Amino acid sequence: MSDTGPPSPDEGPALRDKRVVLIISGGIAAYKSLDLIRRLRERGAHVIPIMTRGAQQFITPLAVGALAADKVYTDLFDREAEHDVGHIRLARDNDLILIAPATADLMAKMAHGIADDLATAVLLATDTPVLLAPAMNPKMWSHPATKRNVETLRGDGLFFVGPDQGEMAESGEAGVGRMAEPLTIADAAEALLSQSPEAERGSAQHKPLAGRHVVITSGPTHEPIDPVRYIANRSSGKQGHAIAAAAAKAGARVTLISGPVTVAEPEDVTTIHVESARDMLQAVKDALPADVAIMAAAVADWRAAADTGHKIKKDGSGAPPALDLVENPDILATIGHHDTLRPLLLIGFAAETQNLVDNARSKLARKRADWIVANDVGPDTGVMGGDANTVRIVTADGIEDWPRMDKTEVATRLITKIGDFLSSR
Ligand code: C5P
Repeated sequence: MSDTGPPSPDEGPALRDKRVVLIISGGIAAYKSLDLIRRLRERGAHVIPIMTRGAQQFITPLAVGALAADKVYTDLFDREAEHDVGHIRLARDNDLILIAPATADLMAKMAHGIADDLATAVLLATDTPVLLAPAMNPKMWSHPATKRNVETLRGDGLFFVGPDQGEMAESGEAGVGRMAEPLTIADAAEALLSQSPEAERGSAQHKPLAGRHVVITSGPTHEPIDPVRYIANRSSGKQGHAIAAAAAKAGARVTLISGPVTVAEPEDVTTIHVESARDMLQAVKDALPADVAIMAAAVADWRAAADTGHKIKKDGSGAPPALDLVENPDILATIGHHDTLRPLLLIGFAAETQNLVDNARSKLARKRADWIVANDVGPDTGVMGGDANTVRIVTADGIEDWPRMDKTEVATRLITKIGDFLSSR
């Protein structure tokens, strides 16, 4: 960590020569901010650090200043910096303000417009984009007060990256609250700055999912019977992949968890490849938390009870081998009933050949989903593997019938509806 040398020339064009004010607040994750400074500088950013009093309990201004190769600002009433109203200059003279770690306390102050130290004064005086990387104990993150503050800040147009799920450094407690990794934060900063100035100005309209994390499952799962045979559903992944592409276009950070498909990976999306339902469930849990999860995969309901480990051969008797099945975990229902991982908006699909709406309604309740996208996949519809789809959106409030349209259009409309839902909260 002693290398504070010049940035390598070929990385991160969006951060190159950008002035990034990095606010470090008081949490144990502050030690990761040291690495974050390096990551930002590697991409060509000029980092101007501000440390709260709490941050200085965890790391020293000396270390931060050495890595940033700049003065560290700590005091609102610093005579040297304030002779020209330095906090206003810090608030204005930059391209991005990044808060990492952002503590529950700092977010509460921001949500209420409190400006009682340098960091909060700068945040109240700024009109440049602000990206927060929260870090706190899982109980603090899931407290209703923090949830309210996060929604207020989102409503004010601020952006978030993380927090992640994992073990807390100080208590070993597991849950959601760990600060996103420095590389992920640098990527999020980069993505934010790579929006065109026009889009940035009206980001709420142009990028309705900016700062949101969306997890999507897509395609079939393959459940091995023996090393050469498997059980699967007929699913191309076209609809789920189209939704992932539309979410990325709307500015979301997208994690796509895909079963085996031949459709191309969407651009600007992190795609994780899995085979079986159990692998898909684990990958979904690893990818959460998210603001929205869309379970579009056609997960196999059953898998073979035993793995033979070798190819099952005909035994010459003419009798087929017995195939014992066991039920797979239901990914949508598992997440729907999960205390901490359930996203703000959970969407399932229902591919049915009969009683479409009744089945969708019962799934909504049974799996604790918020919306079900129901589609008729009867043999005459051409939906399975085809390019078009006719869907009905079933929610607690009623049913919306959408006309038959291309799967990419279904995806765009669904993402618009999600954006409207999130902005109305
Ligand atoms: O019960 P059914 O399979 O029709 O439910 C469809 C919905 O449930 C889809 O959103 C699908 O992705 C999800 N599902 C799941 N895990 C399963 C079965 C279905 O997540 N094992």
